[in-house]
Parts: sequence; C-alpha cells; structure tokens
Amino acid sequence: MNKKIGVKILGTGSYFPKKVLTNTDLEKMVDTSDEWIRTRTGIKERRISEKNETTSDLAYLASLEALKSSNISPEQIDLILVATITPDMFFPSTACFLQKKLGLNFVPVFDLSAACSGFIYGIATARAFIESGLYKTVLLVGAESLSKITDWTDRNTCVLFGDGAGAMLLSASEENDNILSTYLGADGAYSELLFIPGGGSANPATVETVNQKLHTMKMQGKDVFKAAVPKMALAARKALELSGKKLENINLFIPHQANMRIIEAVAKKLDISMDRVFVNIHKTGNISSATTITALDEAIKTGRVKSGDLVEMVAFGGGFTWGASVVRI
Ligand code: ACO
Repeated sequence: MNKKIGVKILGTGSYFPKKVLTNTDLEKMVDTSDEWIRTRTGIKERRISEKNETTSDLAYLASLEALKSSNISPEQIDLILVATITPDMFFPSTACFLQKKLGLNFVPVFDLSAACSGFIYGIATARAFIESGLYKTVLLVGAESLSKITDWTDRNTCVLFGDGAGAMLLSASEENDNILSTYLGADGAYSELLFIPGGGSANPATVETVNQKLHTMKMQGKDVFKAAVPKMALAARKALELSGKKLENINLFIPHQANMRIIEAVAKKLDISMDRVFVNIHKTGNISSATTITALDEAIKTGRVKSGDLVEMVAFGGGFTWGASVVRI
C-alpha cells in the first residue's frame, strides 16, 4: 500500500502597503470618532494600497517573503492559488497576474472566492491537491485591496477594512504532516447580508449602478456579527475534533480579525483565555482572506509560536462561509 503523502508548511510571508489610515484620519472623512471605532471594533489603524498598487502586487511581495522563509526557489512551485474577493480584474485571475510577476510561466493557477474564509478554503484545497499526488509544491496566497471596494462615505463599513497580503508555501513530505485538519462550511441563504451587488451578471455595470454605489460593499453589521460568533465556534470545535487534538493541546488560536468583540465572544464560547488568542486587528483592520495568514506569519516571526506548536485558525465571512484548520508549525 502507498504511504500517505504528508503536507509540510515550508514558510510564510506577509506584505502590507506603506500608507497608514488612522481612526483620526477617518474622523475627517465621515461622522465617526476614534473612540467609537476602537470600542466597537478594536481597530486603531489600517493599511491602504496606492491607486496604482494592485492585489497581485501585494500578493507578489508577500510571496517573495514566503519564498525567503521557505528556502526554496520559485521554480519548485507547481501550483498557485490566490484567495481574494478583490481581484485585479474579473479575469484573468489574480493568480495569473501573480504567476507572471513571479516569472513562473506555465504553472497552473486559479483564484478562490470564499470571502474572509478564503485562506482556510485555500489550505483545504492545497492540502487536497498535494495529498492526491497531483502537485508537490503549492503557493497559497490570501490578498486583498478592500479599500478599492469600500464606500468611503459609509461610516458603517469604511472604518472596518484594510489592505494586505499573506502567503504560505506547502509541499509534499514523507516526514511531516503539518495540516492536521480542515473543516469548511457555507450557507448561501445569507448572501445579501454582506455583498457587492453591482458589476456581475446580476447587475452589470451601468451609469446607474455606479451612481447607486452598487460596486462597493454592503453589510448588515449586526446580523453578520450574530452569525459569525456561533459559526466560528462551531468550525473551531469541528476542526479540533477532526485533528484528534484537545483544546488544551492548541498553543495559539488565530481567529479571523473582523472585530475585537467577535474575537472575544468566540474565545468565551470556546472557553479559551485571551492570552492564547492572537490579535493584531488594531493595526490591520479586517483584511478578509489575508487576515489569518498575515496573523500566522506575524505569530511565527515574532516568536509567539515556535516550531512544533499547534495553531488553530478559524474564519467566517461573506456568503456566509466559515472554516477552521489545525496546523503544526
Ligand atoms: N462611527 C460612529 N457611529 C457609527 C459608525 C461609525 N463608524 N458606524 C455605525 N455607527 C452608528 C450607527 O449608525 C448606529 O447609529 P443609530 O443608532 O443612530 O442608528 C449606531 O452607531 C449603532 O450601530 P450598530 O450597527 O448597532 O453598531 P454595532 O454595535 O452593531 O457595531 C459593527 C457595528 C462594528 C459594524 C458591528 O455590527 C460588527 O462588527 N459587525 C460585524 C461586521 C463585520 O465584521 N463584517 C466584516 C465582514 S464579515 C467578517 O469578517 C466576520
């Protein structure tokens, strides 16, 4: 019988645009206050990409960092996946633009759309491809330019989001099996609680759709909040069960960084003390599919987790989608 192919995490990387937008800056743009934003969300500042900086630019710079930490050459990559809801264009995929920037012509590539759960969906996909024996080394990226789909006159949403990218390299391994579990879920019944109505086949772009601001994010924040907490707790429990590990075995929980109050409520539901929960939302805001991977990268680079530690990542997002994964660093 053939030995099961294991999946090794070779390395991670992140990139954030240089421009910082603080809550004080936002006070000058909409009727809000630093105090309101901090107490309701935990966010103090977020990074914003330049006009001419694309999602694939952020993805490329995060990928270079991941390559550096992995000690492999780009030519070893045989599949590229990009999780994003802010692609450079409808098509080609952002993964195509990233492939070109990396000079990896002919490597198969595609984008994944699962909103804030995108990176967890990406881990599950990369793992399946590697375990099946189809591909050996996968570059998986979560990258977003949410500032470009934000209505900067809507205080309900514009204070929440930011831009950034994170990348992970995963490879087939005989010795290691770093992805202990992945659990995914979705419920399309709630698609209109968090969405962009315009631009697709439902409402193709017209002068009217632009005037009605249908090309920017619309969100029922309270309903999203209510759904996010139980679903993130459920996903965390399921992935833990699938991993065969216990809550006390997990060294660090990395929840999707959407809102500090969601993070605290999920930790409370799971009975995890906040000192075991990674939080960086104060300086990033919500960067959708890039949150869990950039948080993991920061946790690794700052020594918050070390080689051999168990980490559980949990996410929830538009769709609704949700997912969790237990990984060994
Ligand atoms: N500044 C000042 N006041 C504001 C702002 C703002 N930026 N935004 C909204 N308000 C006002 C509202 O207009 C409302 O005023 P009103 O009572 O006069 O109508 C008041 O504040 C309270 O609004 P609520 O919606 O009740 O505020 P809530 O406590 O629910 O917090 C928030 C809003 C932060 C959006 C919260 O619902 C939330 O975090 N939801 C989750 C949304 C989320 O994270 N989405 C991201 C994508 S999904 C994901 O990643 C999980």
